[in-house]
Amino acid sequence: MIFNIGRNGRRGHVLPKVGEKVRHTVGDVSMLIPKNMQRKSQLRLPELSEVEAVRHFTRLSEMNYGVDSGLYPLGSCTMKYNPKINELLADLSTINTVHPYQDESTVQGILEILYRLECWLAEITGTYKVCLQPAAGAHGEFLGTLLMRAYHQLNGEYERRNEVIVPDSAHGTNPASAAMAGFNEVVAPSDGDGCVNLAALKAAVSERTAGLMLTNPNTLGIFEKNIEEIARIVHDAGGLLYYDGANLNPILGKARPGDMGFDIVHMNIHKTFGTPHGGGGPGAGPVGVSEELAKFLPVPRIVFDDERYRLDYDEPYSIGKIRSFYGNVAVLLKAYAYILSLGGEGLMEVAEVSVLNANYLMKKLKEIKGLTLPYNSEKPRKHECVFSAKPLKNDTGVSALNIAKRLLDYGLHAPTIYFPLIVDEALMIEPTETFEKEELDRFVEAVRKISEEAYTKPEIVSKAPHNTAVSRLDEVKASHPRTMALSWRMHLKRNRHDL
Ligand SMILES: Cc1ncc(COP(=O)(O)O)c(C=O)c1O
Repeated sequence: MIFNIGRNGRRGHVLPKVGEKVRHTVGDVSMLIPKNMQRKSQLRLPELSEVEAVRHFTRLSEMNYGVDSGLYPLGSCTMKYNPKINELLADLSTINTVHPYQDESTVQGILEILYRLECWLAEITGTYKVCLQPAAGAHGEFLGTLLMRAYHQLNGEYERRNEVIVPDSAHGTNPASAAMAGFNEVVAPSDGDGCVNLAALKAAVSERTAGLMLTNPNTLGIFEKNIEEIARIVHDAGGLLYYDGANLNPILGKARPGDMGFDIVHMNIHKTFGTPHGGGGPGAGPVGVSEELAKFLPVPRIVFDDERYRLDYDEPYSIGKIRSFYGNVAVLLKAYAYILSLGGEGLMEVAEVSVLNANYLMKKLKEIKGLTLPYNSEKPRKHECVFSAKPLKNDTGVSALNIAKRLLDYGLHAPTIYFPLIVDEALMIEPTETFEKEELDRFVEAVRKISEEAYTKPEIVSKAPHNTAVSRLDEVKASHPRTMALSWRMHLKRNRHDL
């Protein structure tokens, strides 16, 4: 910790002495602070030289692993390279000094960017109108389910239509979002091919159905081949179709949720459109809707009258505001730059290479002892594949968690594990389009070695990682309010040191 290094009195920067004239005019500065607000003891700050501080933070950065370090195959998260030029653009003084309270006439440039981005995202998803406000995918889902509610309310059916159908392969945020909007969850099981079981879906829909939330390609990386039939079943029952766009990456420019029959679509800007992702944000989860639902979208809307851009609050059916101001503008700007730099053709190539990479990995990993590919192992995947380490666990006791930890020793990031819930000992692997063949081969080689280790000396895998700065953390203690320490003061308190 920075508090453990350095020495009393050591300084990184020495401030000039206060001049005589200033001292004379101002007097004792501490006297300007009311007595009851003055510190009783010295402020505890680390005391170190500049080079010590630099070394400390360099060391910390080396303990970390990010998309710039190597393969980051976290399934469902689309951890792709974020082009650095987009960071530079978002940090231009003309962007980062703009304030949301400024008069519209002084922010025409950023309003134009946001307006254009809305139009592009509507085009990409095949929707009628897009709202950029939600700050993450789950926030987009929440907006989507509120729109579902507003639609049924206006039709006088909300009291009756209180069920949202969610497949058993769905991300946990789907049922959570539905519950937050006041709906009950109904689970639709998958069939042997990993797609929605049509017979079960038909049995699940009823006059209580408000909608279906679906991820396509789904979390197994499989495209729902019956999507048109699914849309028909849900619409015939009077429900709406919600698209979880976390997996939009592999179909960019190839297929559009709107054309598949989806009424509401969220996009994960921080997954698909090359903006940073992690640590809980900042992200962006814009939502696109069909023409029928556009009137319910949040305000303000950005409108263009062929001359000026305006913020329009005048929409009687709007559900209101979903977030302060207009969304995470810096993140949205990066997505704008990303789309502009790639163009339509580039976006299609993103989809193609992400699918190629996932299928390459899938084919290679299928040859590794102890791993199986559940749900039709012969079927090509889209952007990700989900393996089961159940056979390895049965044979050797080594679990998916152990494999994930051991991968850290090989200098690689682990895939997502234990999701989706319908795969035992799941390893959910998404390579994205931004890693080269050599990096994919390095990953396959590491998994192959781990499998060999599991069969020959399993304890080396089950006790991993051995080479990282910290080994296995107690995940309960690290996140429980009574034991976690988010700051040095908290750490000292937890350990009952004097403050
Ligand atoms: C399939 C799926 N849906 C929704 C989400 C939620 O997105 P966010 O993390 O941006 O809230 C995720 C996130 O991992 C996801 O994988």
